[in-house]
Amino acid sequence: MKSMELVLLLVFLPLTQSVKHSLLYFLTTSPGVQTFPEFVAVSVVDGVQVGYCDSDIKTAEPRQDWVKKLVEDDPQQKQWHIQTCIRAHQDLKALLETLKQQLDPTGGVHVLQEMSGCKWDSETKEVDGYEQYSYDGEDVITLNLKAQTWLFSESAVSLKPTWDKDKNRLLHSNTVLSNICPEWLKKYLDYGNSSLQRTVRPSVSLLQKSPSSLVSCHATGFYPDRATMFWRKDGQELHEDVDHGEILPNHDGTFQMRADLNISSVKPEDWRKYDCVFNLSGVEDIITKLDKAVIRTNGVSVFPVGAVVGVVVGLMLLSVCITGLFIWRKKNKGEKQLID
Ligand SMILES: *[C@@H]1O[C@H](CO)[C@@H](O)[C@H](O)[C@H]1NC(C)=O
Ligand SMILES: *[C@@H]1O[C@H](CO)[C@@H](O)[C@H](O)[C@H]1NC(C)=O
Ligand SMILES: *[C@@H]1O[C@H](CO)[C@@H](O)[C@H](O)[C@H]1NC(C)=O
Repeated sequence: MKSMELVLLLVFLPLTQSVKHSLLYFLTTSPGVQTFPEFVAVSVVDGVQVGYCDSDIKTAEPRQDWVKKLVEDDPQQKQWHIQTCIRAHQDLKALLETLKQQLDPTGGVHVLQEMSGCKWDSETKEVDGYEQYSYDGEDVITLNLKAQTWLFSESAVSLKPTWDKDKNRLLHSNTVLSNICPEWLKKYLDYGNSSLQRTVRPSVSLLQKSPSSLVSCHATGFYPDRATMFWRKDGQELHEDVDHGEILPNHDGTFQMRADLNISSVKPEDWRKYDCVFNLSGVEDIITKLDKAVIRTNGVSVFPVGAVVGVVVGLMLLSVCITGLFIWRKKNKGEKQLID
């Protein structure tokens, strides 16, 4: 179960990186996959998973100690999450059925996801709400909260008349996204402040599989996820010959990232001109010189084994769903073409 959650986080985190604070819910339904609950939802505050529910356990569980404390103090919130989990399962399943009938009447396994939640800028006090649905990785319905309209993809546009008429749905989304969500986000930030607003320095190492492969500058154990990492030559940031990895979550709530340098054209005498910079606000930059003596080579895996095993197991469990998830994330980086 844990590994599956990690996979969900891996998939969604890039969406959640922001200087603003965020409370986001990621819901997935894919009926017919034996090894995977029909419905799974996770809630994430500032990139940290705070809650979980699925259609097998039929309840919502806190995922951080300070969230346990919060729901003890506010049992109504726990009830809301349990009820919402059950209702969202039914809603999402019904929407998936409707889409399937239109898009694949022959049947087959499909995945429907919902991402909803709010972002709050603690400086400007501005609140944004989000609600969007994707079918097999394609964005099909997106709420434009400011304009109070739903946007539909070409493939889902037949749903538009029904959704436009359903004023209760819009009202409900409004209440949740504009009122409940920001209020709870602030509460989460309050209860979790010593954890969410902490700063943790990572350990940084240089890793290389074989003398001809890339040198990976790898930082693990840092918090929060608003970090940057780059390679420099003579103090100048390098853009060529560097491959930046995404920031990934560790099991313990910290993050890891890497930047790979292709050293194939670096002359041995030039090695000392290179260094790797890890930058996280609140801690001093961690600068690691490119030096044969400090490169760790014997490890077969460049990344913590736990994370990799988690991903592999998760991928096996989720082979169908995951394909959709990754496609969704990729699509999200591109232009959206939705019909108002
Ligand atoms: C967390 O909240 C407490 C009490 O309100 C406050 O004293 C403390 O400074 C806060 N910590 C951070 C890191 O903001
Ligand atoms: C490194 O760069 C060289 C020359 O540009 C290229 O041939 C090689 O494929 C690169 N290595 C990797 C692992 O990307
Ligand atoms: C690290 O980030 C801070 C804040 O963005 C910036 O002022 C500083 O110059 C950065 N350090 C390097 C070495 O780029």
